[in-house]
Amino acid sequence: MSVLDIVLYPDAPLNDRAEPISEFGPALVKLANDMIETMRAEEGVGLAAPQVGLAKRVFVMCPPDGQPRCVVNPELSEMEGREEGEEGCLSMPGIYATNVPRATRVRVQGMDELGQPVDFIAEDFEARIVQHEFDHLNGILFPERLDILTREDVYREWLARRAQMVPNFQDL
Ligand code: NI
Repeated sequence: MSVLDIVLYPDAPLNDRAEPISEFGPALVKLANDMIETMRAEEGVGLAAPQVGLAKRVFVMCPPDGQPRCVVNPELSEMEGREEGEEGCLSMPGIYATNVPRATRVRVQGMDELGQPVDFIAEDFEARIVQHEFDHLNGILFPERLDILTREDVYREWLARRAQMVPNFQDL
């Protein structure tokens, strides 16, 4: 397994709609394992394929006291409830918002990395992870879920931080 490089906002393909996975096999299993290792190395609770440069509908997640899992071609349904909570994103490291609204319950259907059906209910923090990662597959980062003024503040804060991280960011 290997730790993959994380794509930072606003680099491609973070803003693209990801394509469904059509081929299962060793390459997808390796991707899932590498994404789980990367998520752990970065101390994240979720990671979507576009964040490692691949515009494919795959994410991995690991609730704080749960086992890591991979979901391929996910579909969300039966969303219920609404709660504002804190979120960050490995593609905008160090930036957090406290008032990101999400459903508190969601049904997740799809496949695992082996092509076996996946069907589970996620609640509360796990539901938040699922919705955050699912958004990544549609090119949406968490600031898009905020009101416009907070969103602009978050993006401004991130771009200032990133400019410091990479001194020649303006030239890239
Ligand atoms: Ni994220």
